[in-house]
Amino acid sequence: MSKFYLTTPIYYINDLPHIGHAYTTFVADTVARYRRIKGDDVLFATGTDENSQKNVEAANKAGETDLRKYLDKMSARWQETWDELNISNDDFIRTTESRHYETVLVFFDLVNKRGDIYKGVYEGLFCDGCEAFLTEKDLVDGKCSYHLKEPRKISEENYFFRLSNYAKPLLEHIEKNPNFIRPEKRRNEIVNYIKAGLNDISISRQSLKCGLLFPLDKNQKIYVWFDALINYLTAAGFGHDEEKFKKWWPADLHLMGKDITRFHAVIWPAMLMSAKLQLPKTIFAHGFFTINGEKMSKSFGNTIDPVELSKIYPLDAIRYFLLREIKFGEDGDFSLVYLKEHYNNDLANVFGNLLYRALSMTEQYFGGRVPKHSEKSEGLDPLCEIDVWREFEDKMDNYKFNEALDVIWKVIEAANKFIENEKPWQLAKINENRLKDVLYNLLETLRQVGWLLLPLMPDTSERVWKQIGIDTAEEKGKKIELAKIWGGLKSGIAVKKGEPIFPRII
Ligand code: MSP
Repeated sequence: MSKFYLTTPIYYINDLPHIGHAYTTFVADTVARYRRIKGDDVLFATGTDENSQKNVEAANKAGETDLRKYLDKMSARWQETWDELNISNDDFIRTTESRHYETVLVFFDLVNKRGDIYKGVYEGLFCDGCEAFLTEKDLVDGKCSYHLKEPRKISEENYFFRLSNYAKPLLEHIEKNPNFIRPEKRRNEIVNYIKAGLNDISISRQSLKCGLLFPLDKNQKIYVWFDALINYLTAAGFGHDEEKFKKWWPADLHLMGKDITRFHAVIWPAMLMSAKLQLPKTIFAHGFFTINGEKMSKSFGNTIDPVELSKIYPLDAIRYFLLREIKFGEDGDFSLVYLKEHYNNDLANVFGNLLYRALSMTEQYFGGRVPKHSEKSEGLDPLCEIDVWREFEDKMDNYKFNEALDVIWKVIEAANKFIENEKPWQLAKINENRLKDVLYNLLETLRQVGWLLLPLMPDTSERVWKQIGIDTAEEKGKKIELAKIWGGLKSGIAVKKGEPIFPRII
């Protein structure tokens, strides 16, 4: 059995999750569920980035004088939100936990012993939004390109990390490992960025209220990004659980938005090289999406709360829309108008109708029991064949979720067409054996569609299986290899047609 360790960014908790955070987390959940049904042992970690000035400001704004209380409350609400959104994370890491500080100290020591930490004076530009030092070349019209604000000029005594030492080995690693930074667009950006020259970076802060104590100097705090990136080691057990660490490291996949690629694809691997630890296998930076064409921001009042949205649309419809409409890796737009259109068309009409018709006909012609098909379903090719699975797995292995959903909808559309062509209502009068084959074929296709949908729309799979009479616990216990063999649906079981799984929304 192989292992698969994947992560989302750990999020700031100055507010609750919005649809952008949910997007990364849905994708991670999809990958985690996919790897699990493939038979991998999976560690899926997410969490909260707590040693940040942003959180302190948010606590002040909320009138909470006890920072710890604020962090506990907000972090718990993030984990609750992921539960409500059916996220199957195995770990939830908080950077204020003691296991994290233990890991940070062990890691820091390795980097320090390598001679990569020194004291100096930092003078330059600092963006409060990014909580990062910027250089002139990062600015657009004198402003941070993400936060559209002029950075502050600051000067203070800091400790530095010798990032500049790692430009060459980083370029070599990127060159040798084409899957290290994905997609290609981001890899090219990073390569150009490194080639333009890397400066050492400051990794401590003077006189900050929050942050982990800097091990070499009690008047300094560890720069929040330096500590945050190490969370990926903490969740894998580094520095406090060697067995666990041996099993899970290196990470197989770090997922994030393109806003934080440099931290993950330049600073993080350089830190790991310095500590002589293995690098993650893949860093995948997806695009950013706008809301109805506009940047999503609190000040525009256009942020979307995924939990509120899931009170209107089934959660899986939101996942469906995000995964099918936005090509993973590219920018996209989120629009409520399109969400509704796709919901009513793809889910309620095309998919919902297929299920509804297959079940109604089973009730009408076979008293609600899955019919027994003939030994050889003469002239009937299974709708969901081996090629479908091959294509699907190829798309999923390559993080092409929209194309994986295209494959599934091709099957669903073919099944609807199959009904039109076979005309079961006529077969009922003239050829009962063929009618049995046709209906069995439809129901078995739905069982398999349930499997194809499992990583992408997990709740829908279960609902489909329940309606076609399957014991969902037993079905879920199978791995893909068994599940995809045609004929897994038992004849004779009673279907349980319920309410339409995707009722139309007006
Ligand atoms: N705390 C850091 C990450 C540290 S990881 C070691 C951070 N946190 S954040 O709360 O600001 O989250 C940023 C991430 O949220 C993005 O990288 C992306 O995954 C997600 N997104 C936030 N807004 C988004 C969009 N509008 N569109 C797509 N993803 C978005 O940065």
